[in-house]
Amino acid sequence: FSPKPLAGQTVLVTAGPTYEAIDPVRGITNLSSGKMGFAIARAAREAGAQVTLVAGPVSLPTPRGVTRVDVRSAREMLQAVQQQVPAATVFVATAAVADWRPAAPAEQKIKKDGSGQAPALAFTENPDILATVAQSARAASGALFCVGFAAESQDLAANAQAKRVRKQVPLLVGNLGPATFGQDDNALLLVDAQGTQELPRAPKLELARKLIAEIDRRMRTSA
Ligand code: C5P
Repeated sequence: FSPKPLAGQTVLVTAGPTYEAIDPVRGITNLSSGKMGFAIARAAREAGAQVTLVAGPVSLPTPRGVTRVDVRSAREMLQAVQQQVPAATVFVATAAVADWRPAAPAEQKIKKDGSGQAPALAFTENPDILATVAQSARAASGALFCVGFAAESQDLAANAQAKRVRKQVPLLVGNLGPATFGQDDNALLLVDAQGTQELPRAPKLELARKLIAEIDRRMRTSA
């Protein structure tokens, strides 16, 4: 008999891109595949946690035993996350949330008017879901362990450490190496107050299992 390490924990994961409408048929998104977040949700479930996965638009199957909430925009994602935060003990933000959204999406499809003029798009900033949750009373009280991700193109360790402090999370995970969007492999850099630790290149599910073990270890030592 070996009790599962995350039995009794409730893990909330965001994954995938967001989609920000320009008009009813057009929008802005990004190339996040959602694979890392889905792998983390699966690994957390395997470790015995209750898992809710808030997913932007991706075409991936829901891991067995995981509760999935599908959303489109950053604001929908924030709302879905905030509904789950009161029950969550771990929050892992892997979603590639759009930093900006069109300020005033058109209610009807924007048509060419024959003038040769392209429409101008004005943008407004989206909420930072991770920072919002990390600053919540639940996280501040120690009841919710928050983990962020970072995709940096340079100086990963320094930028990730700065981001960890700025977002006020105990653990920030950097994507090491060239573009990982859509790939099945990744390499990760774990950044916490003690320093950095590398998880070398491996399939995302294997990395997800190691990350879950690292989260579990940190929660036990901070408890
Ligand atoms: O600031 P940056 O987007 O690089 O931070 C990345 C981390 O913050 C990821 O964990 C991502 O899921 C999260 N994030 C978020 N909401 C945003 C932007 C980023 O939750 N609007």
